[in-house]
Amino acid sequence: MAANSILSWEEIKLHNTESDVWIVVHGNVYNATKFLEDHPGGKDLILDVAAQDATDVFEEAAHSSEARDILPGLLVGRLKGYGEAAPPAVYPVIGGAPTPAATQARERRKRRSKKAARCEERSRHHGSFRRWRSSLSWLQDGGC
Ligand code: HEM
Repeated sequence: MAANSILSWEEIKLHNTESDVWIVVHGNVYNATKFLEDHPGGKDLILDVAAQDATDVFEEAAHSSEARDILPGLLVGRLKGYGEAAPPAVYPVIGGAPTPAATQARERRKRRSKKAARCEERSRHHGSFRRWRSSLSWLQDGGC
């Protein structure tokens, strides 16, 4: 198993015995089988969290940096989906309908874009009027 494998809980759950035990700490999946007998805290503490997320118990035991240095050597992969971004925000929906606040916000956006379209139309119109007026005074001044 390559240390950079992405592992699902389905796969991790298969490694839950004394002869094959994986644990998950901070989204990293470790094969603790060979370390069981060497664990200063005893093998049972690790077996209690076999094939589970052991992050909390691992941290509660306030392991030293020496203990943490052992972990990379036991790494089998990363937990699938760990630390992924939250899904994009959506309009809050109550009973299938947008909330009044969401509806108001949408209405405001619609009004704003209508206003912007009106303004654009007017400035186009004024622009041609200005062009017409300036060519008129240019003609009055004798043209070319
Ligand atoms: C593969 C994962 C683990 C490794 C590499 C590991 C490593 C170690 C090491 C080296 C120590 C000696 C003290 C230290 O240096 O901090 C220790 C102590 C301890 N570990 Fe772990 N440990 C692991 C998992 C766990 C888990 C899942 C628990 C669950 C509660 C646990 C609980 C403890 C406790 C309570 C002690 C203190 C034992 C004592 O002082 O009598 N460890 N561990």
